[in-house]
Amino acid sequence: MAIKKIGVLGAGLMGAGIAQVAATSGYEVTVVEVSEDLIKKGLSGIEKSLAKFVEKGAISAGQKGDILRRLRGATKLEEVADADVVIEAIVENLQAKRDTYARLDALCKPETVFASNTSSLSITEMMTATGAERRRRFIGMHFFNPVPLMKLVEVIRTILTDDDVYAEAVALAESMGKTVVRAGDKTGFIVNRLLVPFMLDAIRALEEGLASVEDIDNAMKLGCNHPMGPLSLTDFVGLDTTYYIANVMFDEFKERRFASPPLLKRMVQAGLFGRKSGRGFYDYADPKNPKPINVGA
Ligand code: CAA
Ligand code: NAD
Repeated sequence: MAIKKIGVLGAGLMGAGIAQVAATSGYEVTVVEVSEDLIKKGLSGIEKSLAKFVEKGAISAGQKGDILRRLRGATKLEEVADADVVIEAIVENLQAKRDTYARLDALCKPETVFASNTSSLSITEMMTATGAERRRRFIGMHFFNPVPLMKLVEVIRTILTDDDVYAEAVALAESMGKTVVRAGDKTGFIVNRLLVPFMLDAIRALEEGLASVEDIDNAMKLGCNHPMGPLSLTDFVGLDTTYYIANVMFDEFKERRFASPPLLKRMVQAGLFGRKSGRGFYDYADPKNPKPINVGA
């Protein structure tokens, strides 16, 4: 199948990034959000990211204009009915995703491929919200944050995925300039199986009073050459998303290393979602100069 049109669901951290790289790679992209305001926010983030690439000389101002013209925002799911592939990047909640897939299945062409960007949910469990034919055309495509810069996509197949659909998904990710790793439908796939316990352990270390936010982050940045410390990274991923992922992984494996530390839960309950809400382990009032905050109380 020649892929021309891509639908992206969600214009948050991930959906906006996926829409941007898809449009940059020449696809016609429709990105769906729940409100006009969130569409505006998503598209304006894309515009800013493209402006950085223009500044660096990676693309020209003309190319930026062409990319933006290939992007269309929408608030109705019907707008992706004619897409060849729909990549879903809505909130990490099984019921919300299953409801969306059931509606989408009725709207889209029989040949449309459904791809979820879930971090932890079972592709199989989402797939069963659709009819028998679609189940063969259902896969996971797990991009990484920030999508325009991160090179990896994990491509996940289920027991029912057709070989040609899987090959198309791999080719699609590669056409977006990404390197693919193949993973089975086991919660967390490869990266989050290893990364999430590390992030949760950093929060537990903070909770137990081992060291300050800054020292935990600096230790891993300077001691292990990580680009970000684990608490900065949790702020970057989103504390809400990290909490949902931890819950799904703990539910699957029943192992303490995947359990959410109480501090993470309390911060999410208090609305401290990290960078996207302006506060998490750091205060982002000045985004270029985040200040660690005392979250231990
Ligand atoms: N678009 C375009 N350019 C961007 C950008 C974006 N979205 N974000 C950052 N940049 C640019 C910046 O403008 C900057 O450019 P200059 O070098 O010209 O100044 C450059 O990238 C570097 O950015 P910063 O100086 O702000 O910061 P940095 O050097 O720390 O790099 C980073 C930023 C690439 C995000 C780096 O910190 C990093 O790699 N962090 C780790 C990211 C990571 O681990 N991601 C995976 C998260 S887990 C996940 O995604 C899976 C899941 O399911 C939860
Ligand atoms: P986010 O909170 O930044 O964005 C989610 C967006 O989905 C919100 O803007 C919300 O309004 C929108 N949304 C909710 N229901 C919708 C619907 N029915 N239709 C259209 N839009 C809807 O979250 P995010 O970080 O972008 O995560 C999205 C997905 O990507 C999740 O499954 C998450 O696990 C996964 N993921 C996240 C990261 C990360 O680092 N944050 C990395 C890889 C994968």
